[in-house]
Amino acid sequence: MKIVVTGGLGFIGSHTVVELQNENFEVIVIDNLSNSSIEVLDGIERITGKKPLFEQIDLRDKTAVQNFFKKYDDVSGVIHFAASKAVGESVQNPLLYYENNISSLVYILQELNKKPEANFIFSSSCTVYGQAEKMPIAESTPIQPAMSPYGNTKQIGEEIITDVTKVSNLNAILLRYFNPVGAHESNEIGELPLGVPQNLVPFITQTGVGLRKELSVYGNDYPTPDGTCVRDYIHVVDLAKAHVIAMQRLVNKTNTDKLEIFNLGTGKGSTVLEVITAFEKASGQKLPYKIVDRREGDVTEAYANTDKANNVLGWKTQLSLDDAISSAWK
Ligand code: WQD
Repeated sequence: MKIVVTGGLGFIGSHTVVELQNENFEVIVIDNLSNSSIEVLDGIERITGKKPLFEQIDLRDKTAVQNFFKKYDDVSGVIHFAASKAVGESVQNPLLYYENNISSLVYILQELNKKPEANFIFSSSCTVYGQAEKMPIAESTPIQPAMSPYGNTKQIGEEIITDVTKVSNLNAILLRYFNPVGAHESNEIGELPLGVPQNLVPFITQTGVGLRKELSVYGNDYPTPDGTCVRDYIHVVDLAKAHVIAMQRLVNKTNTDKLEIFNLGTGKGSTVLEVITAFEKASGQKLPYKIVDRREGDVTEAYANTDKANNVLGWKTQLSLDDAISSAWK
């Protein structure tokens, strides 16, 4: 069974390709290498013994998207990771985000719409909940106005897919990720951000190896146990496995709803200082850090109610924050 993975050489995409191949799916990766490296293909091959098919395509190129689906006219499903994801950059360059994250999605859906039947998984984000009133956050929690163009592209993407499923043969699952971290235990693939990392864990590991002088902790005056923000850090391998289960659910027609939404998190919140402690335990070294002002746009806390994913998908995280941080460090 052939599955297309867009952004399949990126952080979450590459781990998902590994898990799909482990479950004997035939994978075709699309990536434009804008924030990934071609060597990731070799890493995937070393882990699974199999190199996925690869097409270097920029999904903003509508003709290229059309040609791809003409060439591969027997795909069973698409997992769509390819997108830009830096919140700050999206504020500076909103049109880049709307083109890359929305136009590409529309072009893919236009091609899937031509098929008698199509299965689609979309990478969404807990960012759609903003600062939720109640923790943990269930899927029924109201969506809040987006705080950045990046966040808005995830909301709009969800709406586009919802609208399309109502009038077509598209079956879709929207997966709302909390904070994905860690790396494959083999060390063959991981998170490889270009430039200065904006996210906590890659900044910590780069500080640990001396690439960065110190970590700035954005605020310790939040109403949380130690004053720093709380997030739900999920191991990327657990996250990847959820995609395989979601795709199996779609292709096996386990469910008759045309659209389903699942939160993917551990259900447990951790503070920034707890992540630092986990890093110090994993690495056996102290992390240089200082407390600075709050970062604009940060919510105080966000962690998932995982009941729906646990009970309906039959998926549960198996790895801990310590596992995630030590694999990221390795
Ligand atoms: C985590 C915590 C920071 C860096 C963002 C996006 C979200 C999602 C993932 C996808 C926060 C603190 C961070 C640093 C720090 N989307 N921090 N010093 O903000 O929860 O989510 O990335 O791709 O849509 O908003 O993740 O890793 O940036 O921050 O103190 O140098 O670490 O304040 O509390 P966030 P993050």
